Amino acid sequence: MTIAETDSAEFGEESIWFKLTPLLKDPKNPMGILMQTAERYGPVIPVSMASQRVVLISEPQFFKHVLVSKADNYVKYFDGLEPIFGKSMITNDGALWQKIRMPQQPAFHPDVFAEYIPYFNEAIRSKMRNWAELAKTGEAVEMVEQTWTLAADMICKALFDRDMPFNPHVVFRYVKTYTDVMNHKSIRDKKQAGDVSGYTEASPAEAVEAWTSVPPAVIASDPREEREKTLLKMIQAAVDDPEVPEFDQQQAIDELKQYLWAGTETTALTLAWALYLVSKHPEAAERIRHEGEDVCGDREPNAADYSSLTYTRAVIQETMRLYPPVWSLIRTAAGPDVIDGKEIKAGDRIVLFGYGAHHNPKFWDAPEEFSPERWMGDAAKKRVKYSYIPFGAGKRSCIGGAMSQVENTLALSLLLRRFRPEYIGPEPAPINATVTLTPRGGLHFRIHELS
Ligand code: HEM
Repeated sequence: MTIAETDSAEFGEESIWFKLTPLLKDPKNPMGILMQTAERYGPVIPVSMASQRVVLISEPQFFKHVLVSKADNYVKYFDGLEPIFGKSMITNDGALWQKIRMPQQPAFHPDVFAEYIPYFNEAIRSKMRNWAELAKTGEAVEMVEQTWTLAADMICKALFDRDMPFNPHVVFRYVKTYTDVMNHKSIRDKKQAGDVSGYTEASPAEAVEAWTSVPPAVIASDPREEREKTLLKMIQAAVDDPEVPEFDQQQAIDELKQYLWAGTETTALTLAWALYLVSKHPEAAERIRHEGEDVCGDREPNAADYSSLTYTRAVIQETMRLYPPVWSLIRTAAGPDVIDGKEIKAGDRIVLFGYGAHHNPKFWDAPEEFSPERWMGDAAKKRVKYSYIPFGAGKRSCIGGAMSQVENTLALSLLLRRFRPEYIGPEPAPINATVTLTPRGGLHFRIHELS
């Protein structure tokens, strides 16, 4: 299949995200119908949608069943996203998945984060120089683009020992065009009708072509410091390892694709939503500033400081509760099963509605309130297991989740110590539920430098 053909063939009405569209259509609250359905019909709801059985699951004990207790019966679902992720670890299952994940796992052990922090700080410093300019001109910025370019820089520097050998703003726009899955068909229809407002950058096929060129450019570019123990070196060693013949050069390219998207978009959305929330809660922004001053003084944060930035970290955790970047996890049932008395058939698509649990008053006091304190001290111990799954759960949980919290905690602390990002968009910021939970129309800000 050519790249142009992937556009219409893989990303059409067969995609589960497309099938869910009618349930996500309320522009004021795309999650509303799913929330009400779960409340009315219970935590496990089999439905038939356009000839496909879909099972909506919205409570923690059943998340555990699918992701942990009977994980082998529920395989990953990735229809339509192959051009973005290739055949990388995130899309695989079984023995092959294990062979691909194992050689990369050491790069995500918390013991190595201390080594990454100077590179995270360097990328944040570069973003701050850019924001100082934006503060002078007073121009408005779209925050997800800002935080995505930062997240991409952090990954390239820390994990690959590279400066970004691509224009991150261009790559961001291309891939955004492609990943807007839910609107995909309507974009095509609009284009055919000559109405391309908002999607002028590229067709999905052009976007995929541009995206495909990024990982080889990263591999071919000069290392910054020739560091020995980087993720990129681990991936290259796996390619050279005759014991793992499946890990070939194409696998290496696909792994990079995965990191440059799964490892950046989610991190970027979290930081952008966090900046939105603290812009609405200036007292939280002040507390973050004071915590940064108390913990770090004039130094840049190190690993020990990260542990002490407890309130700032709590803001990141609370942001992912309210706006989980991955709002649902999708699986396909490999064989029959019974969940909560409901029959599951082979081939059923299972939608684990994490957002629903994050906002359910059964598991959270005042769930719609922004309250970072619920993550601190004794309050944090009250949490119901599996009621919070921003990184998934079980063996397929996010490899980079803990690292992303370091990236975002440091970024939030340092950016707010120097700037006051002012949200200038509609209130509340409307959401759009595609594969990820994105702000509809973006999050628009003006940057002010603190005196
Ligand atoms: C706020 C930031 C992040 C969020 C919310 C997030 C979320 C997730 C979720 C929910 C999954 C599991 C998907 C499923 O079970 O179907 C996942 C998997 C994954 N994530 Fe993340 N992620 C984040 C950051 C990162 C970072 C920083 C990296 C790497 C640099 C990363 C790399 C991956 C990979 C490779 C997988 C697949 C793991 C596997 O299948 O074994 N993610 N992520």
